[in-house]
Amino acid sequence: MSLQVVVLCAGKGTRMKSEKSKVMHEIMGKPMIEYVYEIAKEVSDKKPIFIVGHAKEQIESYFKDKVEYVHQDEQLGTGHAVILAEKKINENDDVLILYGDTPLIQASTIKKLIEDKKDDTPVTILTSMVDNPFGYGRIVKDINGDFVKIVEQKDANDEEKLIREINSGMSYISGKLIKENINKITNNNNQKEYYLTDLFEILKNNGNKISTFFIEQDEIMGVNSRTQLEDARKVMSKRINSFHMDNGVTLISPESIYIEKDVVIGRDTIIYPNNILRGKTDIGNNCILYAGNEIVDTVIKDNVTIRTSFLEESYVDEKTTIGPYAHLRPKSKLGKKVKIGNFVEVKNSIMGNNSKASHLAYVGDGDIGDNVNIGCGVVFVNYDGKHKNRSIVKDNAFIGSNSNLVAPVTIEEKGYVATGSTVTDNVPANSLCIARARQVIKAGWTAKKKLLD
Ligand code: UD1
Ligand code: CA
Repeated sequence: MSLQVVVLCAGKGTRMKSEKSKVMHEIMGKPMIEYVYEIAKEVSDKKPIFIVGHAKEQIESYFKDKVEYVHQDEQLGTGHAVILAEKKINENDDVLILYGDTPLIQASTIKKLIEDKKDDTPVTILTSMVDNPFGYGRIVKDINGDFVKIVEQKDANDEEKLIREINSGMSYISGKLIKENINKITNNNNQKEYYLTDLFEILKNNGNKISTFFIEQDEIMGVNSRTQLEDARKVMSKRINSFHMDNGVTLISPESIYIEKDVVIGRDTIIYPNNILRGKTDIGNNCILYAGNEIVDTVIKDNVTIRTSFLEESYVDEKTTIGPYAHLRPKSKLGKKVKIGNFVEVKNSIMGNNSKASHLAYVGDGDIGDNVNIGCGVVFVNYDGKHKNRSIVKDNAFIGSNSNLVAPVTIEEKGYVATGSTVTDNVPANSLCIARARQVIKAGWTAKKKLLD
């Protein structure tokens, strides 16, 4: 017996006021439905079944053939959605039903549910106790605490409306019971919808035991509006930050630190307020990120210090320091103990160990060796208006301040470029290159012209 996950995500999401499918709206850098997909993958080996309808192209082009699709062109209710999926459900499987707009459920909770599930209870509804149950289906139980039925908000009487135990929408049912009973659901209710919730009453009346499994309030949070999207994001962000703190990362004012879920951070790294860490960023041990960095898809090794900088798709080796106000653009690769200082931009370049560009430089399309000094204001002139070209600066070379390296050009080992040079030809090893006009002095010139009198 295996587990089949079925995810309902055909609904319109009217309250998002968006052209985008509701479940494709992002929480911490990923569509909310991706979190549900990740849980499905973690608890089951089978491809999940997604029931899609409204804006289904967006979901299908995102997940491609990673999931199976069932089309629900007319959204006649949650029960109707499962009726359409019935043919794809194997009667020997157990089925976990999740909602695409309920992304805060955790894999650990589902695993606990599966562990706790007693073999004699083939049906379990995930429920929660909430302060304000308005809008949710209420769990009606009898005097012994046994499940009776679920009543939707719009069908509930005054007494039922007072019930605070609510249906999360998520449930765990044997495939066999779904196949045998799902077609018995009718739309005989105030919304004229086929309610999935009616299945449980039908199963109960067939003599099946229906269990309820409590989950925390923040795991059932559904996203129907932009406000709820932000509420859900806050919960997710807090979980991610707590995970890193539990792993030995110091976060100062974590509520101001935005870390996406796939980011990796090593022990004893300290992160000051207002940092944004996105995508597949991987940060080593003992790093310090002072305030105000944005780091995207970048690998940072141990003992690196970064101040107020923007790093994208780059690699930074050990003990390197960056910033303040530096920009590493894609495909920058910095070696060990490199220094990238104030207002330096690096793009598609390699810098070897111990090399430095400390102030106000543009290093674009450069291949720079070890122990190279790039002076203040150096520009790698990499673009002739049509083509990008590379400059090569070999080990121990020195590029004087305010020089231009007009690519393609090579500075050989220990080549020395005098300050203010515009270098258009290769510089041999151990040589000085001066490529500027010689200074001229005209004595008494201002007095003769009465210029500054
Ligand atoms: C549903 C439950 C309610 C529960 C609540 C929890 C029913 C009848 N009610 O109500 O008991 O407390 O969720 O959030 O099940 N969907 C489809 N096809 C449809 C209708 C909905 O795929 O025809 C999908 C939606 O995209 C969404 C999910 O099912 O992901 C829930 O639908 P929604 O209309 O939001 O249900 P609720 O009224 O919130
Ligand atoms: Ca809902």
